Amino acid sequence: MSDTAARRETGAPPSLSRVHASVEAYYNDRLARFGASPMGVDWSCEATQNLRFVQLLKLCDTTQPFSLNDLGCGYGALAVFMRDRFPDADVDYLGIDLSRSMIARARRRHRGKPNVRFVAGNAPTRIADYAVASGIMNVKLDQPMEIWETFVRTMLEDLHRTSRIGFAVNFMEVPTKGAPPDQLYCPLPDQWARYCEDILGCIVTIVNNYGLRENTLLARRPVACA
Ligand SMILES: C[S@@+](CC[C@H](N)C(=O)[O-])C[C@H]1O[C@@H](n2cnc3c(N)ncnc32)[C@H](O)[C@@H]1O
Repeated sequence: MSDTAARRETGAPPSLSRVHASVEAYYNDRLARFGASPMGVDWSCEATQNLRFVQLLKLCDTTQPFSLNDLGCGYGALAVFMRDRFPDADVDYLGIDLSRSMIARARRRHRGKPNVRFVAGNAPTRIADYAVASGIMNVKLDQPMEIWETFVRTMLEDLHRTSRIGFAVNFMEVPTKGAPPDQLYCPLPDQWARYCEDILGCIVTIVNNYGLRENTLLARRPVACA
């Protein structure tokens, strides 16, 4: 496909269309090999998958009704986690993933559940109170660093643009054992925190020391004074 045709088809710049295609192929393969399980989305176990959700959800006031976009939702594990952990919370959940296989699996698992929806895509399709994204920046594969950082920047801008109150994302600090180090993306902890503060105008809290060699950014919009 020509670059122009790729742009017409997906709306993304051509370089990112190729990144999206390779990320989708990678996660389709994980899902085919390991099924709808933590390993199917590249996590070692459910305990660490959930530990990441706990950090990301520190962003949200679960005592009030809220809407939530989950970018890179995989097979929809966060929706299950929220139902178990916050059974009384009133949440309007939308999961978005560029892997159509993940979305098909998520829809099957959550069929008939009220206020839980899934859509295929590479950015949130609606504005919500909050957005979270767990693990979507980590697996760079063989993308050049400049292209990958454009991918990361685009996702942060999309998360910011589509969240009324704030968004939360996580980043690895060091490669996991056994993984090819140049295929994983491990930026310095404050690199993207500074971007969210200086360029997006957010108030950022960095959460770390939760037992994983990674950090979570909670990026909130400043509250307007009356
Ligand atoms: C490490 S998995 C995590 C899945 C889920 N967040 C979880 O923790 O169970 C990353 C997921 O993000 C998706 N993804 C990566 N980049 C994305 C993007 N720009 N837009 C939508 N989905 C994306 C992948 O297809 C994959 O399913």
